[in-house]
Amino acid sequence: MCGIFAYTGKVGKEAGGVLLDGLLSLEYRGYDSAGIFLPEAGSVRTPGAVAELRKKIPKDFKGKSGIAHLRWATHGEPTEKNAHPHADCEGEVWVVHNGIIENFKELKEKLLAEGHMFKSDSDTEVLAHLVEEHLKHEKSFEKAALAALNEVRGTYGIALQYKKEPDRIIAARMGSPIVLGLGDGEHFIASDPSPILPHTKKVVFLEDGEVAVITPDGHKIFKLDSTNVKREATHIDWSVEESQKGGYEHFMLKEIMEGPQVIEDTLRGRLIADEGMAKLGGLESVANELKNIERIIIVAQGTAYIAGLVGEYMLEEYAGVPVEVEYASEFRYRSPVLNQKTALIAISQSGETLDTLEAVREGKRKGALTLGIVNAVGSTIARETDAGVYNHAGPEISVASTKALISQLAALVLFTLFFGRQRSMGVKTAKEIIAELKTLPKKIETILKSEETIAALAKKYANNRDFLFIGRKSNYPIALEGALKLKEISYMHAEGYSAGEMKHGPIAMIDEHFPTLAIATVGSVYEKMVSNIHEIKARKGPVIALATEGDKEIGKLADDVIYVPETIEMLSPILNVVPLQLFAYYFAKEKGLNVDRPRNLAKSVTVE
Ligand code: G6P
Repeated sequence: MCGIFAYTGKVGKEAGGVLLDGLLSLEYRGYDSAGIFLPEAGSVRTPGAVAELRKKIPKDFKGKSGIAHLRWATHGEPTEKNAHPHADCEGEVWVVHNGIIENFKELKEKLLAEGHMFKSDSDTEVLAHLVEEHLKHEKSFEKAALAALNEVRGTYGIALQYKKEPDRIIAARMGSPIVLGLGDGEHFIASDPSPILPHTKKVVFLEDGEVAVITPDGHKIFKLDSTNVKREATHIDWSVEESQKGGYEHFMLKEIMEGPQVIEDTLRGRLIADEGMAKLGGLESVANELKNIERIIIVAQGTAYIAGLVGEYMLEEYAGVPVEVEYASEFRYRSPVLNQKTALIAISQSGETLDTLEAVREGKRKGALTLGIVNAVGSTIARETDAGVYNHAGPEISVASTKALISQLAALVLFTLFFGRQRSMGVKTAKEIIAELKTLPKKIETILKSEETIAALAKKYANNRDFLFIGRKSNYPIALEGALKLKEISYMHAEGYSAGEMKHGPIAMIDEHFPTLAIATVGSVYEKMVSNIHEIKARKGPVIALATEGDKEIGKLADDVIYVPETIEMLSPILNVVPLQLFAYYFAKEKGLNVDRPRNLAKSVTVE
């Protein structure tokens, strides 16, 4: 998720200043590296965010139009070389891009054979060269850009500029948002309206497969097949902050809503469905060592630790590898017995959590192969592990982690397929998992539609002071996560328990004022969960059951039911966690708390 901003105007505004100010409001989308290009002044790029870019910009960097970018790295490290904008061989065609060009390798090979010289590792750069190539035959920049876009596969939000036509900027959208800002004598392109709003409230949202051209005097929109598109402008009254949140009240809600997209992004290009395999480029360098691994230790903190616990169930049952999961903060202070046949997997959204990092270092000292499941590209854990897999979940702003967990779980399914197919997992099982995995985005969308029901439940239970979450097997960690979310953002006393352990203590607390959320979706432990619910009801405890659509019995037993679509047991935690995230969100909102920035907590804990 990168940020794009482009400007062309004839009203005397300084394009450099307009673009830099605009980028500031896009910093929530990315902050690994930043860059700007003005046809009249040249380009400046840097690792870091807008403050760094400002420092590098010379005083005479002036112009009437330009394109700018904030990067959240996916392909290639966050270095100056990989920062956008990227240019063609002659520095004439410039591009900023949000998304992934899936066929960039084949396009790059073709362009290299045609004599193009590449300067970065980025998939984006191929676009500038493709346009350059088409400019040899096409009459106009517009036609060349359209021809290039028709060759590209993948997801993109793009802005393109050509030095010889400085006041014209071309935008295109396929899967990554693009919005046009319509001013008087000035026009804008951005990945969301926030940088446009200080200048104009009149915007036009592009649809997938559409291309737009802006000049100071106007705009036009057409499809990739050149047919014209007429679209009325929308007047938006959002504040800059509301716009960053995509119209949602909090980043947390926006990030929960991104769940379906996050699964797609984590899985993109990594499944070979007909062979029942996961293709993890980041593990290729250690593929031989992985074949000899006899034991896995997962280290993490917070919500990433919960992901690890779910991973343990998946990996042991389907890949047949013994797995231990440990808080990194504990692991680093004991004397773990490790050897070269141990893989230590560190899971971390930020890639900077100090305890997780130190556990990686300890693992390395003791000879283990260290692997990462990390969201932030180029972060310390990503750099220090021997190999790993990036989440591609985009930046997570809310302190309470939600979409990162969804993505970590999807990545762990990929690990399970990868390890499993090296070992005992047959192709049939793998294909079944892959087929079901692909249905998850739609199923999460269905869950997200029950937002209002969940909000009403949060309201109903908002006056309770305690909460118990129970689950079994791989939904036991999801019970822990339900409780953790409630603690983090609602400051509630909430406990997560394995339902089987309930009789050994927690049940003593149950009375009519102590509600339980029981995860009772279909699977091998369904009947056991129903028995546990009976035990709670016998003690007058209110019960919210999380159940599978079509389960008519559970409604007779539980006080309230949240339904989720059916899936295979292995993948059920990925669906079941979503209503619990929504529940915690609405609970905190009901209490009027600062959802995105809960007291005493930090997004990334870089101290012990
Ligand atoms: C903090 C955050 C949590 C997060 C944990 C681990 O406690 O508030 O949301 O799960 O750190 O962070 P990491 O970046 O390593 O996943």
